[in-house]
Amino acid sequence: MKYILTLFMMALALVANARTETLKSPDGNLEMTFSLSEEGTPGYALSYSGREVIKPSPLGYTFRGDASAKDPKTYMHVSYGTVDMGSGFVFVDAVRSEFDQTWEPVWGEESHIRNHYNELAVTLAKKDFKGKVGKDVQMVLRFRLYDDGLGFRYEFPAQDNLKYFIVMDELTQFRMTGDHTAWWIAGDYDTQEYNYAQTRLSEIRGTLPKMIFNNASQHIAGPTSVQTSLQMKTDDGLYINIHEAALVNYPVMTLTLNEEEQSFKADLTPDATGYRGRLCAPCTSPWRTVMVVDDARKILASRLILNLNEPCALEDVSWIRPVKFMGVWWEMITGLRSWAYGSRLGHGANTENVKAYIDFAAEHGFDALLVEGWNEGWRDWFGNQKDEVFDFVTPFPDFDLQGLNEYAHAKGIRLMMHHETSSSVVNYERHLDEAFSLMKKYGYDAVKTGYVGDIIPYGEYHYGQFMINHYNRVLKKAAEYKIMVNGHEAVRPTGLCRTYPNLVGNESAMGMEFRGRVLPHHVTILPFTRLQGGPMDFTPGIFEMDMRKNNPNSTQQIHSTLCKQLALYVTQASPIQMAGDMPKNYEKHPEAFRFIKDVALDWDKSVYLAAEPGDYIITARKAKGSDEWFVGGVTDENAREMTVSFDFLEPGRKYMARIYADAKDADGVGNTPETGSESCAKYEIKEMKVTSKTRLKVKMAPSGGFAISIK
Ligand code: NOJ
Ligand code: CA
Repeated sequence: MKYILTLFMMALALVANARTETLKSPDGNLEMTFSLSEEGTPGYALSYSGREVIKPSPLGYTFRGDASAKDPKTYMHVSYGTVDMGSGFVFVDAVRSEFDQTWEPVWGEESHIRNHYNELAVTLAKKDFKGKVGKDVQMVLRFRLYDDGLGFRYEFPAQDNLKYFIVMDELTQFRMTGDHTAWWIAGDYDTQEYNYAQTRLSEIRGTLPKMIFNNASQHIAGPTSVQTSLQMKTDDGLYINIHEAALVNYPVMTLTLNEEEQSFKADLTPDATGYRGRLCAPCTSPWRTVMVVDDARKILASRLILNLNEPCALEDVSWIRPVKFMGVWWEMITGLRSWAYGSRLGHGANTENVKAYIDFAAEHGFDALLVEGWNEGWRDWFGNQKDEVFDFVTPFPDFDLQGLNEYAHAKGIRLMMHHETSSSVVNYERHLDEAFSLMKKYGYDAVKTGYVGDIIPYGEYHYGQFMINHYNRVLKKAAEYKIMVNGHEAVRPTGLCRTYPNLVGNESAMGMEFRGRVLPHHVTILPFTRLQGGPMDFTPGIFEMDMRKNNPNSTQQIHSTLCKQLALYVTQASPIQMAGDMPKNYEKHPEAFRFIKDVALDWDKSVYLAAEPGDYIITARKAKGSDEWFVGGVTDENAREMTVSFDFLEPGRKYMARIYADAKDADGVGNTPETGSESCAKYEIKEMKVTSKTRLKVKMAPSGGFAISIK
């Protein structure tokens, strides 16, 4: 009897620990359930209008055992073991709140953003932490439920029994309800420069090796590993997107798929010693985000990632401005000239050549000119890991630093600085103040940074915590100097541009520099994935798709029509936009070039007219503080005829539209080294009056598109 009673009491104690709390989105469509199991394992589940979206999925961590434990005789560190932070929790309390505020970004896709969510903060205690009786550790799980998705994060408040700790593993899972279609790139701790695959979850393992090609730095995270932002679609038409927001002092999360369970598990980028994060309470994880909507356009319209970031941290933002720029750049990418002074190809950034670019950029109303290969170091690094390469202040002898800046300023152009760090990161940090001071001295207000090659310190990855802190340090330091940052090969953004709006761009995905490798559907996916975290320096505006015309030694053919290149200025919003091609290629198409000159960079409003990941996107945007609208449409390898309804315009007003459309015989895919690229550059430009009642049929060629400017 006593035995049975004991069992009964034990069962009661366990059940008493079990707990659920539910949270609904403001519109009631999404419901999140937090649960604590009898064993004290925290978890969550998510449903949309009664349809299960995320099955009950565990939360928590594995920490490393006591870091200070040493053998008292040898003073050697003893085997640390692990501390389970994924079970054994007890419920402390749950606090609910609602938030509804509208804020104004410094730049972006719209001038006003509503931040409206319901919040649940659950405090849990881990009893007898590390097996020490009476030592409790508290962990808060904060959930924010929006109409278009969920954000949640871990918080470790300041407390007596937890200060410094090491993460061995984050246990967060996202358990799917089926073999969804996914648009994904391979999980890699060093790069996102891959094409997207569109497959079922069950096909990821088989497809992944086919999506990989060489990069100067790469480390595939696993055979079923994918990057966030990960876009999915269920068979019954729900769009699910997993990403993270506000990545600060923490490694990047990639996702590892378990095919049998159809679940993803967080995989944090390790540091050089294999650990997955070194934290110090009080601290928080980034937000883990799950968008859920019933229409693909609502993913594009979602501001979830930005909303989960902290408000602007800069008091004065008057110096942050949209920038349209050209570059002494494409001729190096196409192998026509070199970054390096003394190269047998010839040095691109020589004073005379830069002057010619300044003249052209000024004549066509650009704001800035990027000059790459201006500084010492380029001859002494390629392909090697070397600590001291660049000092970021010494120009090559044929680059007149002062004279060119004066020449540019006299013509209303600013030069854009280039800091290729060669991934020698500590070296860059050593020189940062001097480098930024030099920029201020000569009047540069924007820097393009770059991280080509494996990271020094050796063994660190581009997406590890060390590097995340580096990118953020550069951003803050740049803000002190009133410098805007456009980071290439840096971590894919997570909405941090809300807090630091001087982060005006990132590459962090495959851009036009990959030329013929860019698949036609790429730009129909990027706005769903990479661009969720912030704008991309995609470097659109390539007019010559036949690389042999630039450089007879190059066989790369770009698979895009010219009009598709124009459309990208609208479908891929960014406050900095480059016209990537060379002046001579724009001179061949002055009428089409006009769109690049006219298009705005900052917006009051964006309307997503049509969208399906992997297929097409049509977006209309109203320029900030003006009555002008711009529309862009892109398609994958399939030709499409679509109808644009102009009902976004103000009713009763008449507008003039200038339409840049693929010609009937245009073709962005069929160009080969044999056929040449003439079919890409076939377009028609026409002007017509439009009102909010206008319906316009537009044809897009295979890998084609269209662009419209409306006044
Ligand atoms: C890669 C960048 O994406 C590209 O734009 C740049 O020209 C090279 N690195 C050299 O820094
Ligand atoms: Ca790159």
